[in-house]
Amino acid sequence: MGYWLPPGRLFAVKVLVKAPAKINLALRVGTPRLDGYHRLDTVFTALDLADDVEAITADELTMSMSGRGEDLPVDESNLVIKAARALQKFARARGCEYLADRGAHIHVTKRIPVAGGMAGGSADAAGALVALNELWGIGASHSDLLRLAADLGSDVPFALVGGIAHGTGRGEQLVPVSVPQDLRQQWVVLVNPEGLSTPAVFRAFDEVAVSADNARIADTPASTGELRSALEQGDTAAIVSQMINDLEPVARHLRPDLQEIFDCLESVDGIEKVILSGSGPSIAILVGDADADRLATKLAEFFPNLDVVRTAGPARGAHIVASSTPEETN
Ligand code: C5P
Repeated sequence: MGYWLPPGRLFAVKVLVKAPAKINLALRVGTPRLDGYHRLDTVFTALDLADDVEAITADELTMSMSGRGEDLPVDESNLVIKAARALQKFARARGCEYLADRGAHIHVTKRIPVAGGMAGGSADAAGALVALNELWGIGASHSDLLRLAADLGSDVPFALVGGIAHGTGRGEQLVPVSVPQDLRQQWVVLVNPEGLSTPAVFRAFDEVAVSADNARIADTPASTGELRSALEQGDTAAIVSQMINDLEPVARHLRPDLQEIFDCLESVDGIEKVILSGSGPSIAILVGDADADRLATKLAEFFPNLDVVRTAGPARGAHIVASSTPEETN
């Protein structure tokens, strides 16, 4: 049996989506708004490090996880299920009750560190939106999905967009930054096993009220304009000099072990820049092309208690890599 939408094409019964992790090349933070969210001026880059989100037709809506996220809850509190519910609500609001009632089993193969400041949960939610939109034949446009994504979380829209983008508002208002085609950054990420709560880091930031370059925090965050110009010109030295994360000093304060790692990395050859990933506690290290593998091996030996992940960017936003119809799966 098959539903036809658009005409001539069978509904997919299985859809596989790749959803990327992110790093903020710069994260400038202003004061909180009335809704509690902080005003941000940020530049995101998507990474090759990605989760697989696979959706299969089923009667009920369920999910499972393997890899790094094995212990995470897979109930209604998971952002993936929330994304699915948001899409069902969207279909219902469009009068497509028969689409809104369809089920799915979603399996996430997790490679992105959990609670590491790399937006892994947001990537999975973005992946679920893309996968289920295809599986259920909802027909939501990219801008519809962006709106649903923004309601799910501040970082979810970027996981849909990918590439390199300028984020304002609470991080959900995005404009792509066009960079030279050959701009490719090699990263080694030191994954910290114990998470640092994002709200706790923002709260600590409010108490200190000082940016990473020692300025008093204003309503409007400092601008990332110079970084964006450097990216557009592919000026690596200028990119490196403009990378800054306002949450880094408070994260280092909350977690003295991070301070030790930062101190240690300062003396290592081949490292172009060390920056806290989002609200942490993972640490992103920008590495020269020739040094990336050597450095990753060396850092893995040096920090046996940390997970060392080698990746590169920019990468595409959440996108379908395979979609099969009943005929193909029979
Ligand atoms: O948007 P999201 O639900 O991912 O945000 C998680 C938490 O991070 C918020 O509840 C808030 O404490 C903090 N946050 C913030 N300002 C932002 C983004 C996130 O304070 N712009």
